[in-house]
Amino acid sequence: PRFAYRGLHLDVCRHFFPLSFVKKYIDVLAAHKLNTFHWHLTDDQGWRIEIKKFPKLQSVASCRNETLVGHYSDTPERYDGVKECGYYTQKEVKEVVEYARKRFVTIIPEIEMPGHALAALTAYPELGCTGGPYETAKKWGVFDDVFCAGNDETFNFIEGVLDEVCALFPGTYIHVGGDECPKVRWEACPKCQKRMKTEGLKDEHELQSYFVRRAEAVLTKHGKKLIGWDEILEGGIASSATIMSWRGIEGGIAAAKAGHDAIMTPSSDVYLDYYQSDPATEPLAIGGYLTLEKVYSYEPVPAELNAEEAKHILGAQANVWTEYITTSDYVEYMAYPRAC
Ligand code: ACM
Ligand code: ZN
Repeated sequence: PRFAYRGLHLDVCRHFFPLSFVKKYIDVLAAHKLNTFHWHLTDDQGWRIEIKKFPKLQSVASCRNETLVGHYSDTPERYDGVKECGYYTQKEVKEVVEYARKRFVTIIPEIEMPGHALAALTAYPELGCTGGPYETAKKWGVFDDVFCAGNDETFNFIEGVLDEVCALFPGTYIHVGGDECPKVRWEACPKCQKRMKTEGLKDEHELQSYFVRRAEAVLTKHGKKLIGWDEILEGGIASSATIMSWRGIEGGIAAAKAGHDAIMTPSSDVYLDYYQSDPATEPLAIGGYLTLEKVYSYEPVPAELNAEEAKHILGAQANVWTEYITTSDYVEYMAYPRAC
């Protein structure tokens, strides 16, 4: 109750979970007095929300041809040979939004940009710097191919997507990602370089900020506010942005000191995809080591902030990334009891 924002996140891109489970997840988080569900809906490995203006997001981007078996660091890599598809229709999204509302839970949808966009690029390769072809990712990691920031078609796409997303979700906040966006394609892309020149941007970090500001303008038009991962601080923060501090607490501190709101989600303390006990005794996970005791002892307000700055820390959120979490039972095993 110290905090207005008490969140739990779920990645439905790396593995897709049925609507019935999403509702159960909301039931359980509400039972624990969490009030925000961060729904991670788009990523390299799949696009999971119906967007009527762009039908190939359903027919192409919601599928990947097969999936990595075992850990991403294993050699040689092995794949399961099984095509996997899944997305939520807008009708289903509305159903979940209403289900959550009745439980006093607000949903924050996340639409990733400019990185973590391979599934979208596979459907619409003209939105990437090289023009593709691309393939929805079959393994986990950070990929060099991202949305082209020099192509006006990209912003037409982003606007069309966000228009529909804003209409579906009644909450104030829309999350636009912004994390882990390599700049190598932008560095080599004539359109991106031209954009930097005409907009007076001194490097690719400022180009990323330009991208985020274009998204912010769309959200503002709908009366919404933008949230981004802490990387969006790097080229100058968008004026109305709230920061999700995940690479530690520094992003949250910088945001609060600059007068921006922040939500604390440091991987060291609240990444529930990390091992919770001796890895030798646990199912396969991404790595890390985060015990129940450590999560419990997490203090969301950094000691570096004075009382005035600390007001910008809206609260905390735990994140459940599902690269290795293949079933709903496993989601619950990882989320609880640590989410409590
Ligand atoms: C993140 O964990 N890449 C936000
Ligand atoms: Zn480009």
